Order: sequence, then structure tokens, then C-alpha cells
Amino acid sequence: MAYIEMKNSSKRYQTGDTEIIANKDVSFEIEKGELVIILGASGAGKSTVLNILGGMDTNDEGQVFIDGIDIAQFNSHQRTNYRRDDVGFVFQFYNLVPNLTAKENVELASEIVADALNPEQVLIEVGLGNRMNNFPAQLSGGEQQRVAIARAVAKNPKILLCDEPTGALDYQTGKQVLKILQEMSHAKGATVIIVTHNASLAPIADRVIHMHDAGVKEIRLNPSPQDIDTLEY
Ligand SMILES: Nc1ncnc2c1ncn2[C@@H]1O[C@H](COP(=O)(O)OP(=O)(O)OP(=O)(O)O)[C@@H](O)[C@H]1O
Ligand SMILES: [Mg+2]
Repeated sequence: MAYIEMKNSSKRYQTGDTEIIANKDVSFEIEKGELVIILGASGAGKSTVLNILGGMDTNDEGQVFIDGIDIAQFNSHQRTNYRRDDVGFVFQFYNLVPNLTAKENVELASEIVADALNPEQVLIEVGLGNRMNNFPAQLSGGEQQRVAIARAVAKNPKILLCDEPTGALDYQTGKQVLKILQEMSHAKGATVIIVTHNASLAPIADRVIHMHDAGVKEIRLNPSPQDIDTLEY
């Protein structure tokens, strides 16, 4: 069995008397240590998949195996533990706590799990060794996003989920952030899932899951993913 398996997962949202089908019979597998890109247009259902994988939302039908356990069967208490212990999240707009320093923001996450990594060490790895005591407002967008990545990584999560992590960044800064995420996977063996609508990022991933209209349209494996340094997009 693959490390992550979503099987025939469906999700509907009810707003008033209209029902929106956000995910329809979504199935895919992800192996441990892969860098995966979930690609698709706005409204295709990408964030819904990510939120279900991360235990932030629940599906209506289907199975979601993470490391052999079907998290779709979890009660809310189990889901809370799963989110806290096993999942790292990176969002488009960083979501740092403004009145805590970079280091304190990372400590906030590492303190809630048992087998956390050293916050200073992780900040050094994302290139912020000399900015640990700065507040978010004193950092550029790319630096803030690197703090957010450090915060997610410090929990030593089973999966690192990133929803449009470069959406608010300029081209060069976005590349730096993607490089860190690619290294997390290829050098450190982390399982990293990135949601984006930018199809030109596809060559950097080990696996590309293309979504369209609430479903999976195509899954492609890259036997030799391109190094982000050499990608022009
Ligand atoms: N909480 C919600 N309540 C109602 N409808 C929702 C909710 N979340 C998502 N949807 C709907 O489900 C569909 C899929 O949304 P989703 O956020 O997964 O798309 P997406 O691929 O991430 O899009 P984007 O690229 O714009 O972020 C959309 O039609 C959206 O409006
Ligand atoms: Mg989205």
C-alpha cells in the first residue's frame, strides 16, 4: 500500500438549497518522500483535497489512508491529534503570529509535538539563521514564508501540505521557496504536497495530479524531476 492513498473520495458543500460538488470520486496514491504538485484551475477542488488530507475538513464518501490508517474514519478528537502531530501546513499568506519573533513562531509549533526538530536548526536550514529574533513585519514576504515553512517542518510532520505557497511572492522569491520545498523532499525525505494553478511548475515534481471539475483528470510521474534552479516559468 502506498504511503498516502485517497480512494473514491467525494465532498459536497451545501449552501442554502444549492449543492456544490467540490470533489467527485477522487483517487490517487503518493509515495513517502515524494514532491507532489496538485494542479488545476480555480474551483477545481485542489484546496478541498488538501484540507481533507490534512484533517482540516472531512469527506462525505471514500477512504483517505495516511501511513496505513484511514483518517476518514477518525472522530474529531482523533482528527485534532492527527492535525497536531502529523501534519505541517504552509498557506499563501504565511499566517505568522505578528507579535512573536521568527524563532518564537517556530517554537509555537515545535512545543506542541513530542518529536519536534530544533527550531533554531530548522530556521538555519531555510536560510534565516541571522533573522531569528526579527518580527514578521521586519521580514520580506519570502522570508516570512520561509519562517512559515520552518514552522511546519519543525513539527517533523508525516506530510507537509502547501496551498499556493508562492502565490503572494515575486518570481525569484517564489523560486527560493520552491527550492526549499524541493530540498525538503529530495534531501530530507519529507513528503511534500504543493497546490498550485501554475502548470509550468509541473516539471519539478515527482508526481503531478491534475484536477479538473472536482475530479482527477490525469496523474503523471516524472522519473527525473527538474531542479528548480534550472526551471524558467
Ligand atoms: N466551505 C465551503 N463552502 C461552500 N463551498 C465551498 C467551500 N469550500 C470550497 N467550496 C467550493 O468547492 C469548489 C472547490 O473549491 P476549492 O477551494 O477546493 O478549489 P481550488 O481548486 O482550491 O480553487 P482555487 O485555485 O481558487 O483556490 C468551489 O466551487 C468552491 O466554491
Ligand atoms: Mg484553493
